[in-house]
Amino acid sequence: MIINNTHLDTRVSMQAVIHELKIGSHMAVPIILHDDTMIGTLCATDPDPHIFTETELENMKMLATIYTYVVSQSGYSLSSEEEKIRLHAKSIINEFAADLADQVRNPMQTVKGFIQFLLDEPKFQQHKEVILDELGKMENNLQSFLLATNPSYPLKERISLANILVETTSSIKSEAEKHHVSISLTLESLPDLIVDKSQMTRVFHNIIKNSIDATKQNKGKVQVRSYTELENVVCIEISDNGLGIPLSDINKVGKPLYSSKNDGHGLGISVASDIIESHGGKLLIETSPTGTKVTIKLPMAE
Ligand SMILES: Nc1ncnc2c1ncn2[C@@H]1O[C@H](COP(=O)(O)OP(=O)(O)OP(=O)(O)O)[C@@H](O)[C@H]1O
Ligand SMILES: [Mg+2]
Repeated sequence: MIINNTHLDTRVSMQAVIHELKIGSHMAVPIILHDDTMIGTLCATDPDPHIFTETELENMKMLATIYTYVVSQSGYSLSSEEEKIRLHAKSIINEFAADLADQVRNPMQTVKGFIQFLLDEPKFQQHKEVILDELGKMENNLQSFLLATNPSYPLKERISLANILVETTSSIKSEAEKHHVSISLTLESLPDLIVDKSQMTRVFHNIIKNSIDATKQNKGKVQVRSYTELENVVCIEISDNGLGIPLSDINKVGKPLYSSKNDGHGLGISVASDIIESHGGKLLIETSPTGTKVTIKLPMAE
């Protein structure tokens, strides 16, 4: 971009920065890496109006090329920038969750207590389930935000992962049945693990819920399978026969706030990965147009 006289050029003449920084003329050349990512612009400014020459423009382009070379040799990658953005997004969620916790959670608990008491009246029986269900969803959403804030401090105990899987699948079964999605469980006998029960429940809930969402238009089938690997790793596979994650979106999945759903928060996988990592494990996603498989690998207790 070349602006020979910033005071006459309507694209910038009204911008305060032009006057504050006393920019009379301005030339900018984009800095583009070999993979076509633009990482910035190289700018030349003059306090006075100045008609930039072809030679000056060529010199700037050459400088931008040298800059591109130096940057690509330095190992700079957009992913480190993306990581910064990811951490920034997380810190925003942190503050947001803390606020929510203070302002919503306590009054909600009080209201829930009173509502439960009132709903014991026989005339409210038919609404009881719906109201408590909706309140449960609100609590879950709040919990998601809170877990996104501080997922790394699990309260671990020795428990059977198989039991957690059975309980989680049965708690989500009515949701699945509503959408004609079947859930099957194939559990190899598993050793007890030292994990935070409520966090693990949340992980399985988030992943199975995603599979239900992905298959509900499509005679859904969700399979939950567990097995051991390498003598000391427990694997849990949750696979579905949905349409998979488009290749263009696969890198976004798991980043906080990325969602392709109208009613999604984009926290389910990010929270699940954080929890699994804080248990020393890994969460892997494989996807194709015929389905998605999420594999969770956890170390066995010593
Ligand atoms: N099994 C799956 N099949 C297809 N797409 C999936 C699957 N699991 C996740 N996704 C994609 O990844 C995105 C992010 O999932 P994630 O669970 O983090 O957020 P969400 O489900 O959109 O919202 P929420 O925070 O309510 O869980 C989803 O919006 C969806 O596009
Ligand atoms: Mg989800």
